Amino acid sequence: MQDRIRNAALRDRIVSAAEAAALIQDGMVVGMSGFTRAGEAMAVPLALAERARSHPLKITLMTGASLGHDLDKILAETQVTARRLPFQSDPALRRAINAGEVMFIDQHLSETVEQLRTRQLPAPDIAVIEATAITAEGGIIPTTSVGNSASFAILAKKVIVEINSAHPLSFEGMHDIFIPTYRPNRMPIPVVTPDSRIGLPYIPIPPEKIAAIVMTYKSDSAASIASPDEDTVAIANHLIDFLSHEVKMGRMDNRLVPLQAGIGSIANAVLHGLIESPFHDLRMYSEVLQDSTFDLIDAGKLTFASGSSITLSAAHSRRIMQDFDRYKPHLMLRPQEISNHPEVVRRLGLIAINTALEFDIYGNVNSTHVMGTQMMNGIGGSGDFARNALLSVFVTKSVAKGGAISSVVPMVSHVDHTEHDVDILVTETGLADLRGLAPRERARIIIRNCAHPDWQSSLQDYYDRACAFGGHTPHILEEAFSWHIRLRKTGRM
Ligand code: COA
Repeated sequence: MQDRIRNAALRDRIVSAAEAAALIQDGMVVGMSGFTRAGEAMAVPLALAERARSHPLKITLMTGASLGHDLDKILAETQVTARRLPFQSDPALRRAINAGEVMFIDQHLSETVEQLRTRQLPAPDIAVIEATAITAEGGIIPTTSVGNSASFAILAKKVIVEINSAHPLSFEGMHDIFIPTYRPNRMPIPVVTPDSRIGLPYIPIPPEKIAAIVMTYKSDSAASIASPDEDTVAIANHLIDFLSHEVKMGRMDNRLVPLQAGIGSIANAVLHGLIESPFHDLRMYSEVLQDSTFDLIDAGKLTFASGSSITLSAAHSRRIMQDFDRYKPHLMLRPQEISNHPEVVRRLGLIAINTALEFDIYGNVNSTHVMGTQMMNGIGGSGDFARNALLSVFVTKSVAKGGAISSVVPMVSHVDHTEHDVDILVTETGLADLRGLAPRERARIIIRNCAHPDWQSSLQDYYDRACAFGGHTPHILEEAFSWHIRLRKTGRM
């Protein structure tokens, strides 16, 4: 206990989860820790959901990103979540969002706390933050994610801390908490390399703001990442060949430039592919550190990884947490507004690898809305990185749902990343390098290199007929969404 709560006066504030949850009232804005299923407070939200079963209440729930332990499911099913931001990935919450029952604000992950700080969004009434320990000064040492926790704790009127003693005390020193100064006259964010340490190893708040402390013991939810398959290996190989060419052209050396890789199985598989690549002394400046990050460290390929969370499969988590001291010198976790900050992303010149649901023949990317209407997860950090990276790469398999859906379409049904933000597209069939190409040139190379053979001639036919109408970016407006409409009517594009 002394190790976990080093400020003796705060030990009197230990209460049960139900007592702490009683501080949360109907209509409140609640900022909770948690980012890509890592580092979320669990006991208090569960107690809140339990209370809501007999005494209904609704809150606005802000987090870093998605929550583990089915919390988003439980809070949606008990109708506690009325508004949710800035990201989620839970099927039950997704259903409630798409039914119009939960208002979901899908934001660039770097922006939420900027909007809080400038009072464009209401400040949290209360923050619920998972911690490894509380320092003698009352500073909160986070766990496997930082996300938005620091700004939530600083801006909230009250803070509930869940001390999770399943996390090793050696997490202390892994975090770098830096909060940008207020505008105008904000100073530059002084991250100049992925390992730049610019802040404090804890979240600084006055101890009197800590209203309750709950003691817990739980592991993070395991990431459900599919293992690399034939297609994702092919995607990785196309990208590695392309990067080798960039090295040969003298645009970067064999260390490449710092890497960012988005959530999901495909991006994880792509990074995994780098283990067998000619590249070495790699660095990451990313958002989520997945299994592949640690495999690259083990392979001696990656020297440093900066992120906002560590999200691991069960097997990796067991192995890495047992041997955490060995990995710690290679790791740093930052607030998501810093890990994803456009200023830093542009300064470092990243290779940003994110996943598309679909892209169109001109290079516009949809990462969020199935059939232009049904929210999948949210834009997450993909836009923060894509617009500002040195090389903005989007990957996807060329078909979905057993081949019924082409991921390359005449016109995307929703645009998250415009053609202006996209440099490279990769599917298992090939890679399209769009740099310096006009729309008509882009269409030819995207159809030739990235479309599945089953859909290639139909796309070419659409493009050829569209050219007859003329224009810088030729389209047949009557037909642009005909593939999606056919899918809705027949189950196949
Ligand atoms: N139309 C309809 N469904 C499609 C589709 C399309 N064009 N393309 C893929 N899907 C479906 C898949 O079939 C799969 O469905 P299932 O779960 O029922 O099997 C699902 O979408 C996920 O696709 P998958 O191929 O498994 O990719 P993934 O796990 O890598 O996730 C995204 C892909 C786009 C959903 C995910 O990367 C995402 O949410 N991205 C946005 C946020 C982001 O990029 N953050 C990056 C910074 S961390």
